[in-house]
Amino acid sequence: RRAEEVRVVEVGPRDGLQNEKTSIPLRTKLELIRRLSKTGVRDIEAGSFVSPKWVPQMENSAGVLNDLLGHPPSSPFPIAYNFLIPNIKGLQKFLAGKEGASEPDSEPAPITSPQDPNTPPTPPPSPKRDGDDEPAPITSTEDPNEMPSDPNEPLKSSIQKHAVEISLFTAATEAFSRANTNRTIAESLEECKAIVSLAKSKDIRVRGYVSVALGCPYEGPDVAPSKVAEITASLLEMGVDEVSVADTTGMGTALKTQELLKTLVAAGVSTKDIALHLHDTFGQALVNAVVGLEHGVRTFDSSVAGLGGCPFSKGATGNVATEDLVHCLHGLGARTGVDVEKVAKIGAWISKELGRENDSRAGKALLAR
Ligand code: HMG
Ligand code: MG
Repeated sequence: RRAEEVRVVEVGPRDGLQNEKTSIPLRTKLELIRRLSKTGVRDIEAGSFVSPKWVPQMENSAGVLNDLLGHPPSSPFPIAYNFLIPNIKGLQKFLAGKEGASEPDSEPAPITSPQDPNTPPTPPPSPKRDGDDEPAPITSTEDPNEMPSDPNEPLKSSIQKHAVEISLFTAATEAFSRANTNRTIAESLEECKAIVSLAKSKDIRVRGYVSVALGCPYEGPDVAPSKVAEITASLLEMGVDEVSVADTTGMGTALKTQELLKTLVAAGVSTKDIALHLHDTFGQALVNAVVGLEHGVRTFDSSVAGLGGCPFSKGATGNVATEDLVHCLHGLGARTGVDVEKVAKIGAWISKELGRENDSRAGKALLAR
């Protein structure tokens, strides 16, 4: 029985830290990223190039980028470091940092674009399935004689060298779009188009977020799934490589998540092109992740120690804790390549550094053993 691969995108250094009230020193952010780079995660959201007037905590993201490019954390496999970009100005700042960075010190493989012309293409980490609209089993039985694989065995990677990538973001409600970026949805999509076009001209992989997909702090819990599907499809159409569908407020329930995923698939969106980004405000994130798995989603965002929240979504807590997500996935027989014990130690460390509660139940339980 061959375990199904599930990709975990660690968003702690960005989503996890952006809402912290006291300024976090650059060295703490770098240390967090370095430690996470040793856990087996392949994707780490490392910072954002947003207006410091709106989110002061992310102001030192250029320092993060510069350090990652100059001194790539050593890791046995390549990692994609991602930066959140709200507008062309943010992308220009990111590009200036990327292009102006000094050569990496030494090993490991230097950071470069994932579409480096010298790099032979490799398959994406999420496995292909026969029908994306069919709920897929979490484990497949392609070869019944094969031994169960180690959940920590490294996943295949879509990149062969470290990469820096970007994420753009928009929202499924006008009120949230306005609150988060001072733009209507239509204006925000225009900005996204310009970002994709410039990023693609530089061979940079682009993720996209659709916020408030399962509830909005201003317009309430009933966000139209058809609106989320329409925006997701337009992001994919403009060339975004993967859309992370976000439950910003944690208002999602299993039924709402199911309805949303069915609507996305009915609108022609493949579950292999989406991720789920689940904030755990109401304790539903893991349940909703399992619903996502049953519908074929194989990429999930999470945050070490459950850090985080959105400054423009009052009361929303952090993403599902990476420790909890990985523990759940391994319990279902999936393979993540992530060493949950290592993540648990980092969760305890960063919670202490920030002087806050560790929000990972699995992390605390693992360390108490
Ligand atoms: P604005 O005020 O409409 O834009 O903000 P502006 O163009 O008038 O700029 C205002 C000032 O910011 C100007 O400075 C600009 O130069 C500067 P001034 O002239 O007054 O000195 N500025 C910038 N500085 C640095 N980098 C930039 C940049 N852009 C403008 N990129 C804007 C519009 C989009 C910039 C602003 O609304 C913004 O930065 N919003 C981002 C808010 C944010 O970061 N939210 C949290 C991240 S999203 C999230 O957490 C959700 C997610 O996790 C998924 C989920 O859970 O839902 C992804
Ligand atoms: Mg978020």
